[in-house]
Amino acid sequence: MTVHFIGAGPGAPDLITLRGRDRIAACPVCLYAGSLVAPEILGWCPPGARIVDTAPLDLDAIVAEIEAAHARGEDVARLHSGDLSIWSALAEQMRRLDRIGIPYTVTPGVPAFSAAAALLKRELTVPGVAQSVVLTRTSGRASAMPERETLAAFAATGATLALHLSIHILDKVVAELIPFYGAPCPAAVVFRASWPDERVITGTLATIADLVAGSGIERTALILVGPALGAEDFRESALYAADYDRRFRPGGAVGTVDAEDSNA
Ligand SMILES: C[S@@+](CC[C@H](N)C(=O)[O-])C[C@H]1O[C@@H](n2cnc3c(N)ncnc32)[C@H](O)[C@@H]1O
Repeated sequence: MTVHFIGAGPGAPDLITLRGRDRIAACPVCLYAGSLVAPEILGWCPPGARIVDTAPLDLDAIVAEIEAAHARGEDVARLHSGDLSIWSALAEQMRRLDRIGIPYTVTPGVPAFSAAAALLKRELTVPGVAQSVVLTRTSGRASAMPERETLAAFAATGATLALHLSIHILDKVVAELIPFYGAPCPAAVVFRASWPDERVITGTLATIADLVAGSGIERTALILVGPALGAEDFRESALYAADYDRRFRPGGAVGTVDAEDSNA
C-alpha cells in the first residue's frame, strides 16, 4: 500500500500531469483538498472509489483515513492544488507517514504562479531585467512569516514577486513595495488562473489597488509585481544568438555551455 501525493494543478483538469491522472485512476481511495481541486479531476477515480474532501478534516483525521486505507491494503491518491512543493502541507503529512512507516510517492503539478504567467503571456525572467522569481506570501492565520522573510527584503532585490495568499491586503502590499520598485512598476492580479471564471487585472503599483477594489476578488488570486511584467526593450538571450556556441548547435563563436542553458 502506498500514498501517492499528487499536485493537481492550478484548476483546469487538463493541467494535471499524465502521471497524476494515471495514479488517481489506479487508487481506490482519493483524499482531496476540496477548496482548490476541480471536481472534474475526481472523475478519474475508479468506480466505487472512496472520495473524501479533506477541507473540513484536521491532520489527525486525514492520517486516520490513510491508516484505514493502509489496513485495507488500498492505495491512496492525495491531491493538493498546484504543485506540492509550495504551501501544500506536504511536509507535515510526509513526516507523519515516515513515523508510522507508510510509504509514499510525490508527483509534481503545475503551480498557480506558472498558470498566472501563462495567462498574462509573460516570462517572469527577462534578460537584463529580472533573473529571479520570489514565491512568497504574507502572514496568515495558519502561518506566520519567519522574521527575516519580509516583503522589503525581497523587494530590495528587484526580482519578480509572486505573492500568494495576500490579495486581501493588497493596499498594504502596494505601500510596502512602492519604495523599492517605484509607483510605475508593472503589477498584475490573477484570479483563479485556468478556471472557467479566471480574471486578470493589470496595472502598475500606483493603480493596481484601485483597479482591484470593487472587483470582488478576495481570495484565490496571485499578485505579480516587477519590471519583467512590462519589459519590452530588453536584450535577447545569448542562447539563440548566431555566434553562441552550445552543445546542440556547435560551430558558433568560442564558448562553453552551462548545462542549464540547454533549454532551446
Ligand atoms: C495554499 S496556496 C497553494 C499553492 C499551490 N500549492 C501552488 O502550487 O500554486 C493557495 C494560494 O495560491 C494561489 N492560487 C492557487 N490557485 C490559484 C489560481 N488558480 N489562480 C491564482 N492564484 C492561485 C492563491 O494566492 C492562493 O491563495
